[in-house]
Amino acid sequence: MDERRSDLKKIIMDTKTLPTLPGVINKLNSLSNDDKSSVQEMARIVSADQVLSARILRLANSPSYGFYRVSTISNAMILLGVNVVKSLALSSSIFEIMEKNSVGLWEHSLGTATAAGIIARKLALPEVEEITTAGLLHDIGKVIIGLKCAEQMPLIRNKIKLDDLYISDAERAVLDTDHAEVGGWLSKSWFLPDKLSEPIACHHNVACSEDHRVKTSVVHLADVLIKASGFGDSGDSYVPPIQQLAWDQLKLDEALLQEIVVELEDKLVEVKNFSLELASAAVA
Ligand SMILES: [Fe+2]
Ligand SMILES: [Fe+2]
Repeated sequence: MDERRSDLKKIIMDTKTLPTLPGVINKLNSLSNDDKSSVQEMARIVSADQVLSARILRLANSPSYGFYRVSTISNAMILLGVNVVKSLALSSSIFEIMEKNSVGLWEHSLGTATAAGIIARKLALPEVEEITTAGLLHDIGKVIIGLKCAEQMPLIRNKIKLDDLYISDAERAVLDTDHAEVGGWLSKSWFLPDKLSEPIACHHNVACSEDHRVKTSVVHLADVLIKASGFGDSGDSYVPPIQQLAWDQLKLDEALLQEIVVELEDKLVEVKNFSLELASAAVA
């Protein structure tokens, strides 16, 4: 890694100024390493944190998870999976910022999570929850760049406009890195499993994924489909092409893609209502 990029990595990853992580994470981490610990025990720890509990219940009841109507933390944990709950806890402060400051990006993330879930179920892939969470977190690097590189943001925005670039190309031109790589760094520093960090780091370049190319391909495709649907605001004004590698990896064909798009369009109406509900709750 050249000097400029590694300096930037240090600034971006400066833990003293990263959004604070709740102490509940350490407790959850130590529990999940112990096979004997039960979901109930974890649920007890999570329940002590009201904000996190609310967030977990909201997500478990969101359209991304198919309207299961979950009212207890332990059921939500069973539905979402322990890893999802852990990454939610990790990202909870980030989402607070996202909900307040960038409704468009929050909707883009929620939409991508929904699309990723639909694709994963349609293709009968394992670990749908993890794929959905990777979709939810895929652009987390944009939030971090916004926080840590505020001075360079006008330059990046200018580049996007004047040179007609995708966000990630403009980020690379100005910062020598992009939000996907930054998201990868962040998820590593949060000790998220590779099955989440790889799709986050490689969603704009499927070829860079090594061990989780299927999950990465799903998140890439979900991101493209959500951009094409016009739902939310990713910050890009153009829809990028679906990468051939992702297409091949998922064994897609036109008919299957059409089915996914139709299902997604239906679901997005529900997601939009859910997002409006969240936005009005944040204002209240
Ligand atoms: Fe992205
Ligand atoms: Fe995106």
